[in-house]
Amino acid sequence: MATDPANGRRGRFRIAALASGRGSNLQALIDAIAAGTLDAELAGVFSDRADAPALARARAAGAEAVAVNPRDFPSRLEYDAAFFDRVDAVQPDLVVCAGYMRLISAPAVEARAGLLVNIHPSLLPQFKGLHTHRRALEAGAPQHGASVHYVTADLDGGPVISQARVPVLPGDDEQALAERVLAREHPLLVETVRWLAAGRVQLKEHCVHVDGAPLAAPLQLGSNNRFA
Ligand code: GAR
Repeated sequence: MATDPANGRRGRFRIAALASGRGSNLQALIDAIAAGTLDAELAGVFSDRADAPALARARAAGAEAVAVNPRDFPSRLEYDAAFFDRVDAVQPDLVVCAGYMRLISAPAVEARAGLLVNIHPSLLPQFKGLHTHRRALEAGAPQHGASVHYVTADLDGGPVISQARVPVLPGDDEQALAERVLAREHPLLVETVRWLAAGRVQLKEHCVHVDGAPLAAPLQLGSNNRFA
C-alpha cells in the first residue's frame, strides 16, 4: 500500500493497468472505482500500442496514459526495462495485465513477484496462450471461462487466484463463447482486485494465500459476482 511520505499515512490502493487493445476489462475497473465499489485509484495505464482504445479510456477517466513503442528498442529486455520504469514511476500497489498481449521477460516479472496479475480467457491450466475460445470448442469442453493469476515467467502458468465459469452451449461459435466469457471477466477482475486491495489475497512462497491460509483451489465467482 502506498504511503504518503509527507504524513506517513497509507494512501489509496494504487492500480497500474497494462493493456494492448480494447480495454473493456480496464473499463470495468474504472467503473467500479467510480461507483465506489472498488476502493482504489487508477495510477496509470501503460500500453505497447499508442492507438490502443484502452489509453483513451484511461485519459477519459483522468488517469495517466502512457505508450511505449517496442520498435524503439533493440530487444525485449531493453523494452521491458524502459516500459516498467514508467510503470514503477507511478508507485503501483498492483499491476493488472488487462489484455496486455506482449510476453514479459523473466527479469521484469521476477523483479515484481506478487505485484503482477493477469486475466486470461480460459479455465487455467487449460488453454494457455492464444485462441482459447476456438480451442475450447474444438476440444468439446463442457465448460469454459476466465482466470486471474499471478504472473510468473511461465506464460499463463502462474498461481491461479480466481475463476469464473460459463457453460459451452450447443450451437456456440467462437464469438458467442467469447462474449459469454467476457461478460464474466469483468466482474471476476473487479472482485479479484477488491480482494487484493483489501489485502485478503497474497502470494507467499509461490502459492496463493487467502486470509493468511494457502488456497487449495481457485476462488470461484458466484452468480452474485462475489466469491463463494
Ligand atoms: C480479454 O478477453 C482478456 O482475457 C484477454 O484479452 C482480452 C482483452 O479484452 N487476455 C489475454 O488473452 C491474455 N493472454 P479487453 O481489452 O476488452 O479487456
